[in-house]
Amino acid sequence: MKDMTEQNVIKSTSLLTIEHLNISFTQYESGIHRRVLSVIQDLNVQIHTGELVAIVGSSGSGKSLLAHAVLDILPYNASMEGKLNYCGMPLTKDRIRRLRGSEIVLVPQSIGCLDPLMKIGPQLVKGRKDAASKRCMSSILHYLGLEEELSDAYPFELSGGMNRRVLIGTALAEQPKLVIADEPTPGLDPAIADRVIKYFRDMADQGIGVLLITHDLELALRAADRIVVFYAGNTVEEALPEDFRNESSLRHPYTKALWRAMPQNGFQPLAGTQPYVRDLKEGCPFADRCSMYTEACSQKIPYRALRSGYVRCLYAE
Ligand SMILES: Nc1ncnc2c1ncn2[C@@H]1O[C@H](COP(=O)(O)OP(=O)(O)OP(=O)(O)O)[C@@H](O)[C@H]1O
Ligand SMILES: [Mg+2]
Repeated sequence: MKDMTEQNVIKSTSLLTIEHLNISFTQYESGIHRRVLSVIQDLNVQIHTGELVAIVGSSGSGKSLLAHAVLDILPYNASMEGKLNYCGMPLTKDRIRRLRGSEIVLVPQSIGCLDPLMKIGPQLVKGRKDAASKRCMSSILHYLGLEEELSDAYPFELSGGMNRRVLIGTALAEQPKLVIADEPTPGLDPAIADRVIKYFRDMADQGIGVLLITHDLELALRAADRIVVFYAGNTVEEALPEDFRNESSLRHPYTKALWRAMPQNGFQPLAGTQPYVRDLKEGCPFADRCSMYTEACSQKIPYRALRSGYVRCLYAE
């Protein structure tokens, strides 16, 4: 465990800043009608060294696209605007190409990202054969509860949960400054999931920045320093984990609805669904489901500081 003063110093350094990120896709209907689909609007996220920031939000809210934008691996028909700074300098295409896979590491959401033709062991350490890499490979397998013999197996010989652990292992084998873990725990045994999250927490305590993308709010609350909530391609709130102790400490009506849906708060579902990007209107994306809606909400809503966090709602206080 590090000395608190040292931790505070580590946490004060900005590692990655994402400001006003917009992502859109160009699509063609019937092969001729060109349409631009705006899927991420004015997204803001910041992460410091030694910090674990969790991004939560429902399916389709833009969590993976954010990760792919940072890594510069968006699909060919996507275009992106906004400011990405890494260690105080713009994260240009050249820079991310050099840092990707070593200093900035992604644990992808899909186990389909594993190479089907490469055995598990070499895949964990990117084919390195030196003694240190072999030791590293064994300790990762052991840490993730996988038998050593599995290093000789191919991904198709493993279960989904085992392959997910291998994906996580590929990040553990590097010595990154920034880890982006996109839904690392679905399908894992709860004890292993807990261990994985503790490992990411340990990484952050050692000075690494960890961006943990998850559907699982409870899991995020156990490990994160800050929680950023996405809704329909927007950042709607940034909160501290302790804000989730009471509904009244939260800021955005969507975050409050997430809070009410937690088992310990009565499992109260929220009526309606997140709008699909094609159906989004100008203004607040949560308008259709919000009891505080007024006409003023159909304007562009600013992301503003409120207490120790941020919110994108005119009426939050
Ligand atoms: N290549 C693409 N072309 C058009 N739209 C896309 C493309 N890729 C993603 N989208 C849309 O962008 C939105 C955000 O997708 P994204 O994969 O980031 O969601 P997510 O929050 O990661 O969801 P999940 O929790 O299911 O992983 C979705 O509405 C999705 O349909
Ligand atoms: Mg995703």
